[in-house]
Amino acid sequence: MQQAPILQIRNVSKTIQNRKVIDELSLEVFPGEVFGLLGPNGAGKTSAIRLIVGLSTLQQGDIEIHGHSIKTDFIKAISHVGAIIEQPDLYSYLTGYKNLLHFARMHNNISRDRIMEIAEIVGLSNRIHDVVNSYSLGMRQRLGMAQALLHSPSLLILDEPTNGLDPAGIRDTRDYIRKLAHEDNTAILISSHLLSEIELLCDRVGIVQNGKLLHTLKMSEISSSSQSKTPLEDAFLQITRGNVI
Ligand SMILES: Nc1ncnc2c1ncn2[C@@H]1O[C@H](COP(=O)(O)OP(=O)(O)OP(=O)(O)O)[C@@H](O)[C@H]1O
Ligand SMILES: [Mg+2]
Repeated sequence: MQQAPILQIRNVSKTIQNRKVIDELSLEVFPGEVFGLLGPNGAGKTSAIRLIVGLSTLQQGDIEIHGHSIKTDFIKAISHVGAIIEQPDLYSYLTGYKNLLHFARMHNNISRDRIMEIAEIVGLSNRIHDVVNSYSLGMRQRLGMAQALLHSPSLLILDEPTNGLDPAGIRDTRDYIRKLAHEDNTAILISSHLLSEIELLCDRVGIVQNGKLLHTLKMSEISSSSQSKTPLEDAFLQITRGNVI
C-alpha cells in the first residue's frame, strides 16, 4: 500500500508581472523519497519552492503538507518543513552555534547536544563557535543545512543544495540526503539545473520548463537509447524537445 504523500501540490499557478511563472503545477512527494525538480535557469523551480514555504502567496490551487493546507493551516503545515531557498538566512554577526541556538528556540525540545550533533553531521564542528561573517560560501551553505535539519523535519526542501560546496561537501551532502530519505523516511524535494546532480541524488524527477511540469520519471525505470547519453540526459532531451517517451 502506498503511504500518503507528505507534500501535495494541486493545480498551482502563479503570475508575476504578467508572466506565468508557475503553470498548473501538480505533484506529490512521499516519505522516504528524494524528488528532484529539474529544469533550465528560469524554469520556475525556485518560484515553486517559494510558494510551498509561504515566501510567495498562492493565487490559484492549493498546497498541503501532512494534510494541512498552507492556505488555511499554515503554521501546522510549515512546522513539518526544513528548507534552504537560494541563500540560507543567517545572522552574520553571530557565531554558527548562536545562529543554531536562535533557530532552536523557535522549536520545542531541541537540546544543545542536538545542535552539536547537527554541526558534526554537516562538518562544521571545528568552526561552529566562529562568527558567520568569517565563513566561506560553502560553510554558510553547511550552516544553512544544519538550520534546516535541526528540528528533524519530515519534509526537507533544498533549492540547489550543493551550490558553493567543494567536492567532498557535495559527496557528503548527497550521501546524507539519501540517508535521510531512505533510512529516516524523510520526504525530500530538491531543485537543480544540473542533470548529473539530480541523477545521483533522486529517486523521482519532475522535469520543469516555462513553469510547467512536463513529465515525472522514476530513475529506476529509465534507460538510455544511446551509449553517449546517460538515461536521464536522454529522457530530458526527448521530453524538452516535445517527444513522448
Ligand atoms: N520577483 C519576481 N519578479 C519578476 N519575475 C520573477 C520574479 N521571481 C521570479 N521571476 C521569474 O519567474 C521565472 C522563474 O524563475 P525561478 O527563479 O523560479 O527559476 P529557477 O527555475 O529557479 O531558475 P534557476 O535555475 O536560475 O535558479 C523567471 O522567468 C523569472 O524571471
Ligand atoms: Mg532557482
